[in-house]
Parts: sequence; structure tokens; C-alpha cells
Amino acid sequence: MKTIHEPHLMQREADDLRVAGKRIVLVPTMGALHGGHTALIREARTLGDVVVVTLFVNPAQFGEGEDYGRYPRDIERDALLASGAGGDLLFAPETTAMYPPGYQTFVNVERLSLRLEGAARPGHFRGVATVVAKLFNIARPHSAVFGQKDAQQVIVLRRMVRDLDLGVEIVVVPTLREQDGLAMSSRNVYLTPAQRVEAPVLYRSLRKAEDLIRSGERSAGAVVAAMTLEITGGSSAAIDYVSVADADTLDPLVTLSPGAPVLVSLAARFGTTRLIDNIHIRL
Ligand code: PAJ
Repeated sequence: MKTIHEPHLMQREADDLRVAGKRIVLVPTMGALHGGHTALIREARTLGDVVVVTLFVNPAQFGEGEDYGRYPRDIERDALLASGAGGDLLFAPETTAMYPPGYQTFVNVERLSLRLEGAARPGHFRGVATVVAKLFNIARPHSAVFGQKDAQQVIVLRRMVRDLDLGVEIVVVPTLREQDGLAMSSRNVYLTPAQRVEAPVLYRSLRKAEDLIRSGERSAGAVVAAMTLEITGGSSAAIDYVSVADADTLDPLVTLSPGAPVLVSLAARFGTTRLIDNIHIRL
């Protein structure tokens, strides 16, 4: 698989492809690819002529004390998985190529970035929006594919594309799960065997929320309470947040009303490993 490391060479390649009339589809990742990422690449394959997969562990979206240093990195393995799933080009820049000395320009999607993950991880979405804007300028995609696993990321990036007229179509792929329901994540490898056994409780709590809502529960507080009980009763996880929010604005809901899309989401820690998951419900 052809790998490009330099942003200006990727840009030149993308310009040539556009001149040749090719449709470019981008799949941004931080590597450590798993079945969720390969599902994105397979979807991308159906959407255009050239699938560009990016591998870049973006320091700008990690906070102090987070796992930037220990984030799993294995470019050879990732290249094999990416090409096996239908990727054509790999873009894997060095950190200094993306953020050279003197770098000082950031994209901030203001209010949406302060909710949920943004409240728990200040500055996270500023880092995500900045790197994705850069990747769009470097690879010049027509479409870009993201996972529902990171629901708020999709909401923030859609807003950025609209607000900055970036002209990139955002496509979303449903969350890929292990057989026991645990959402696939590059961070699952940090779990101890005992934590791995407990971790599916997160998805069970989301299913419980969906059951409650589908059977008529309209109090967001009651849904959050039931999920909290499910998680804390069934595991050693420490909850960061459990949220029932408007899926467009991410405003917390008090009462669920018909027609409104609802995002039920959570973050919890098993030891030092922080996992997130969510489901989207339309009443
Ligand atoms: P990363 O965590 O590597 O995820 C890359 C893409 O894969 C994201 O769009 C994410 O939502 C999707 N993904 C991860 N696990 C998934 C699963 N189980 N099912 C479906 N999709 C899944 O998200 C990032 O990287 C970064 O923030 C990035 C967008 C690359 C910017 O640095």
C-alpha cells in the first residue's frame, strides 16, 4: 500500500486525483486499527474512487495525563489491515510535519465542544477539529467517514463543516461491537482480563435505557438512574458521566419528547482505562 508521510506530497497527490476526476474518500484514524476502523474503510470503498486512510496519533486532542504516550502504534500492521479492507493510500505524517515549530492555529467549535466528552476532556474537540480540518485541507476529500462510536465527534465535525463551508460530506458508520456487546476500541487492549469481563456492562446499560424509553419512560433522570445502577451494580467501573441529551444540540434533556432525536451516552473508567459508548434513539 502506498504510504505518504509528507503533507505537501499528499496534497499534490490529492490535487492530481481531483484533476483526473477521481472521488476521494477519507478515513481519519489514530491507528491501532480494529474491526470498527475496517468497517469505515469498507464503507469508504463504496463511496468513491480513492480511499485515503490516515494514521496520526494527534497530540492536540490528548489532555495532560491522558494516554498519548502509551497509545498503541504499529504502522506495518495497520497498513496491512487498511489495504485488506480496501484502502488505496495511507497518509501517516510525523508530528512535526503536522505541528511544526511556531504552530498556533486552532479550530474551535465553541458550544458543542464544551458538552459531555468536552467537559470531561477540556480542549479535546479543539484538537480533533483542528486536525480534521488540516486533514481535509491536505487530502482534499469529497467525503469523509466517521464512526457513531464517537457520536459527539461527528456532531462537532458536522458543525465545523457547515460553519467553515468545507464542502466535505460526512458519512457515519454504526458502532462495531464485540460479540458480548463491548464497543470495539483501540483502548480495549488496556483492560485487564477481569475488567474485560465486566466492560460489556456499558452496552447493557445502554440497552436498558433503550428498553425503558421504548416502553414509555419519558424522564431522563429515571433513565440515567437506571443506567447508573446497572453499571455500578454490575462492575467496578467508575462513571465519568451518563447522559440523555438532545442529539443535535447536546443539551441535557429533562423530559423526552416525541420526534426529538436522543443521544444516550456514557463514559466510565475501568482502572485507568476510560471507555465511551452511546446509542442514538429517535422516538
Ligand atoms: P480513532 O479513535 O482512531 O477512530 C477513528 C474512527 O474510527 C473514528 O471515526 C471513530 O469513531 C471510528 N471508530 C472507532 N471505534 C469504532 C467502532 N467500534 N465502530 C465504528 N467506528 C469506530 O476518532 C479518532 O480516531 C480521532 O479523533 C480522529 C478523528 C482520527 C482525529 O484525530
